[in-house]
Amino acid sequence: VTGGVLVEATEQTTRSCEATVIIPTRNESDNVDALLARLDAALQGIDAEVLFVDDSDDDTPARIRAAGATARHPVRLLHRLPGERAGGLGSAVLQGIAHSEATWVVVMDGDLQHPPEVVPELLMSGWYKGADVVVASRYTGAGDASGLSSAGRNWVSRGSTMLARASFPRRLHACTDPMSGFFAVRRASLDLGRLRPNGFKILLEILARSGRLRVVEHPFTFAARHAGDSKASWREGIIYLRRLAALRAVTLLPGGSSTLVRATAFAAVGASGIVVNSVALWALVRVLNLPLAVAAILATQFSTAWNFALIDGGIYRGAKARGFATRFIGFAAINNALLLVRIPLLALLVDRAHIHFLIANILTLLAVFVGRFVLSDRVLFTREEPMTLLSGRRTPLPREDRAPAGDSRQRIGPVDLVVDLTSAPIPPVSRLRSAPLHHYSVHDIVTISSAVRLPELEYFRLKDGPLPGRADIEIVRGRIGSSHLRARSRVTQYANNPAVCYQEHLGRIGCDFLVDMSDGVKITVGPLLASSPHVLYTNVVEALLRFLLVSRGYVLLHSACLDFNGRGVLLSALTDTGKTGTVLRLLREHGGRFLSDDMTVLDASGRAHCYPKPLTISQHTLRAVNAGDLTRQEWRRLRVQSRIHSKEGRNVGARLGAINLPIMSLNATTQYIVPPPKYVVQRLVPCENSTTVEVDSLFIIERNESRVEDVAADQLIDELIANTDDAYGFPPFRYFAPALVIDGLGYDELRARERALLASAMASIRARRLASPNFGWAEQIHRLLQESADAADESIEEVVDVRRAPTASD
Ligand code: GDD
Ligand code: MN
Repeated sequence: VTGGVLVEATEQTTRSCEATVIIPTRNESDNVDALLARLDAALQGIDAEVLFVDDSDDDTPARIRAAGATARHPVRLLHRLPGERAGGLGSAVLQGIAHSEATWVVVMDGDLQHPPEVVPELLMSGWYKGADVVVASRYTGAGDASGLSSAGRNWVSRGSTMLARASFPRRLHACTDPMSGFFAVRRASLDLGRLRPNGFKILLEILARSGRLRVVEHPFTFAARHAGDSKASWREGIIYLRRLAALRAVTLLPGGSSTLVRATAFAAVGASGIVVNSVALWALVRVLNLPLAVAAILATQFSTAWNFALIDGGIYRGAKARGFATRFIGFAAINNALLLVRIPLLALLVDRAHIHFLIANILTLLAVFVGRFVLSDRVLFTREEPMTLLSGRRTPLPREDRAPAGDSRQRIGPVDLVVDLTSAPIPPVSRLRSAPLHHYSVHDIVTISSAVRLPELEYFRLKDGPLPGRADIEIVRGRIGSSHLRARSRVTQYANNPAVCYQEHLGRIGCDFLVDMSDGVKITVGPLLASSPHVLYTNVVEALLRFLLVSRGYVLLHSACLDFNGRGVLLSALTDTGKTGTVLRLLREHGGRFLSDDMTVLDASGRAHCYPKPLTISQHTLRAVNAGDLTRQEWRRLRVQSRIHSKEGRNVGARLGAINLPIMSLNATTQYIVPPPKYVVQRLVPCENSTTVEVDSLFIIERNESRVEDVAADQLIDELIANTDDAYGFPPFRYFAPALVIDGLGYDELRARERALLASAMASIRARRLASPNFGWAEQIHRLLQESADAADESIEEVVDVRRAPTASD
């Protein structure tokens, strides 16, 4: 045995010997002397060397050099500079192994928690038992972990040991202390290339990744630290869990696993998280005597950290698009927020839907699970990927196709406008199995066939199947483009095709739709949109119908229409002024027949055609509804519904639309949960329908100081168009409208045509503005109609009966 030679390992002066004792150190200066002295004594008679792999910032290296100079065994030092320390303890050990040419390496801590006297015992075990690995165990035989600094550390150590053994029941069968940092291993049994030591637990890495190893154990007593502080931390805990998950997932979840496999793994992790939550809750309440509420909140953080580590390190191991902090905080936020969602959902299901509470509970868990999985899978843990195009191609778009940030022409509000310049026709859509078709014909001007039932068009339903030939508008269900989540909504126009595609963040499952106008109008709608016919109708179908009608010489004017003894009256207003209430009053109190409440089909000669959609009852419309007309339950529901679907509700929606959110999906979900209050007019007021009528008066109603005035022609057209546009103010339309092409007419041409048609229709109609501060329009309209009727009568009477007295006006 050669005496104390100190060689810096960087000089590569390795020598073959029986054993290399590898000691990772980080700021252990006060332990070096004692450690080397005891080691020297313990290693007497053994052909061994000591190799320190040091990451210290204090004078540990100097102490090693000094002590090593007088040691009986060769002492080498590999000092890693701050830039070389990636991987910490684990990589230090691996590097040490790589610098050894001995038959055995022994790994031990530099703080004397691992008694040097045990080193020869480990080697002896290995020699006599023919083992590959000898683990110094705190948990076998006479072993003792009493040196762990606190009860907490003890629990953590035991817990993580159990966890590791549960994860690798076969490989860790013979190992009671896979967390041990104290072990001997026959160098030849290792495949260094397979070890990835960026965690705390190199032994576990070795046992899990190497081929079958013969493992024996040797009990030892884990001593208290000689000097200095432990480097273990919470962070190490999470890293440990992630490593364990990654280690396990390598064999269980091969890369590129399917969504179903990921979802299953996700569910399994969630289930284990419930166990962790329960154990933590129990410990916090029973052992630490914390109040239940505090304990519950803390326990949730435990299970969140747990789930995160397993999901982040296992299911989604590998490089990710988002940073660690974003992922962790995002995940924690989702978990805590979903806690808040579950309670009201539960209440809703039990109280409103009358579902048994146990089943409701499972439903909320499932709902939360799906939400959490989708968000995690599609948003949090995504890999860095190039921008995807609708076709699902993974290749990045050509430069000019990208929407450059900040270019207002290409980015409207929160929406990306992408112009697809490729010659590829229209993005492929996979059509979904369709329910029987529904057929509608709007006064034989426009026909619609739809896989989704459109309650708004019920009046126009063709009871005996479709008209011969293809419908003007075809609505099919399908999946559009790729299933990838996107950071913002996107409208895509196809330079070489009259088509436009709207896609939201949620990928295929959301409210995506594709309007293909190359041959008629074909709308493909995503599953969520298909399940929300009202949103589909108002945001997509009606807007398209409007311009299709224009192309056929009709205007779909945003106005109500009533028929008073053959005199057509149009009512126009900004949304939520009080149009519907006024219509109801006129019908109830002044007779009159109903053509439409919201939209009226008008031809160039000023003739109106009915468009009777179910009425939406907003809050101020409530007072025009007679209590007796609805059931008690309908009334109760109506109060809630009308609040959500009021102008304020819609304003909230529109404001959300200006933010980067999947607005249609949110809208569809809201409507799904709280359907808008829709009633066929005859449910609200007894009246008759009328199909068509010659219009002679138009009233623009306003909430203002009482006033009646005629409206000049130019201004009238502007205002009517503005009112109509107002009805289509909901976000998606204004984004895709500019891409419309119908019968060869572009959007601007269609609008010009609509204007001309409207001007022609208005030529024979008297238009007046009617302001009222107190919803008094119905009375005034009735009076004004009477007056003009009387005036007309009088002008006749003047000729026929000149003797009539002026007092006769009653
Ligand atoms: N080179 C290097 N780089 N050494 C390090 C680093 C590092 O980043 N971090 C810690 N070390 C050294 C320490 O200087 C010490 O010699 C040894 O690794 C163990 O570190 P401690 O900070 O003392 O860890 P511990 O006592 O909390 O953990 C012990 O128990 C664990 C099981 O509960 C160690 O024996 C672990 O290996 C063991 O897994
Ligand atoms: Mn220690």
